[in-house]
Amino acid sequence: MTEIFGAGFAADPWPVLARLRGEGGVHRVRTPDGPPAWLVTRYADVRAGLLDDRLTSRTRWAGAEDYVGFAVPAPLNSMVLAEPVDHARLRRMVTGELSPRRLAEWTRTAPALVDSLLRELDSGTETDLVERLAVPLPAAVIGELLGLGAAERESLLGWANSTLLPSATPPRARDTLTTMLEIVTASTEQARAARADTVLGRLVAAHDDTGSPNSNELAGLLFYLLFVWYEVLVDLVAGSVLTLIGRPDQRKILHDAAEKHSAVDELLRYLSPQVLAGPRFATTELTIGEHTILAGQTVLLCLASANHDPEFFDSPDDIDLTRASHAQLGLGLGMHACLGNALVRTLTAAVLDHVFTRWPDTTLTVPERDIAWRSGFRHRGPQTLPVKLA
Ligand code: HEM
Repeated sequence: MTEIFGAGFAADPWPVLARLRGEGGVHRVRTPDGPPAWLVTRYADVRAGLLDDRLTSRTRWAGAEDYVGFAVPAPLNSMVLAEPVDHARLRRMVTGELSPRRLAEWTRTAPALVDSLLRELDSGTETDLVERLAVPLPAAVIGELLGLGAAERESLLGWANSTLLPSATPPRARDTLTTMLEIVTASTEQARAARADTVLGRLVAAHDDTGSPNSNELAGLLFYLLFVWYEVLVDLVAGSVLTLIGRPDQRKILHDAAEKHSAVDELLRYLSPQVLAGPRFATTELTIGEHTILAGQTVLLCLASANHDPEFFDSPDDIDLTRASHAQLGLGLGMHACLGNALVRTLTAAVLDHVFTRWPDTTLTVPERDIAWRSGFRHRGPQTLPVKLA
């Protein structure tokens, strides 16, 4: 059994992933909690796996031995358990709300939102952009976009600060889940009382008027929209700023680009903040590469490795914002492909534009090698980003 998810994997996963791609591409690995899983590392296999309906994320297909992932309690787990037809119905409800067309108007307010977080900072200030920007940003954005009340936004930010900023006493998973459920419940009640014409207000109204989504589905959907993607957005924003601080040539390409979404796609490919897709369970015996996967076994599709596969991308370990990275897999593909894709691209472009237009000569205040990376094996991003704004 291969052990790969040790200390240092998040900061620099590329050499070990290159080795695994070279040695057959599919490996039985031990996950950090202990249970084994199949890790799939080559681009062609990862892409095929994302589109293979014999691989499901519904945990009821999981066998007893393998990695299953974090057990989310009911009712927050309803999205993961949903059968394909219900899952498709739930996705449709959100797809329209987060479409590029719907986001277009909201997008115009994105720079102001970034500005509101950074307004008081003067040139010459030394600050941590993870704490100051990357962690509060998703709360501000998601709060605005879904239409959360002021108290619920505060609670969401409080949850983010306590779980994502380094702390001597990190909260226990059980306490975090209780807080998440409280925020989901309070947000739903607030939207119901306000009868507001917001994403959340419309989802609650659909539940109240038609029963679809039902109450468990509504909780599961909100759990996804509020929490599941929070950390990876923090990771992308912090990782992108870190990458571009050292690369004025790439900053210029971004600044001059009329269309910035493909540059963000390249950052998504290069950084791959979502290292692995959610665990998939084989519903039947199948073959990947030269390996037989038994029914019930877990398959981890490594998006980061696919995004750095030289069979698919030239010089994959180099960042090149002129590269067409549209086929990168950092936002997934197929029936679980990221619903936040338009938001992610728009927001990241707005953040980078704002930070580097206002402070073009920003520097790190510590050597880059001293920056710690979050140690989770499914996500990767810098834990702190100490800079001097200039
Ligand atoms: C940098 C930021 C983000 C990254 C890298 C990212 C990446 C991903 C990936 C890789 C998946 C597929 C997971 C799988 O196949 O198992 C996914 C699904 C999803 N994403 Fe994102 N995401 C981001 C931000 C967001 C945001 C901001 C939202 C919403 C506001 C969002 C909503 C969703 C939802 C609802 C799904 C689940 C779809 C499903 O299971 O059908 N994501 N995301």
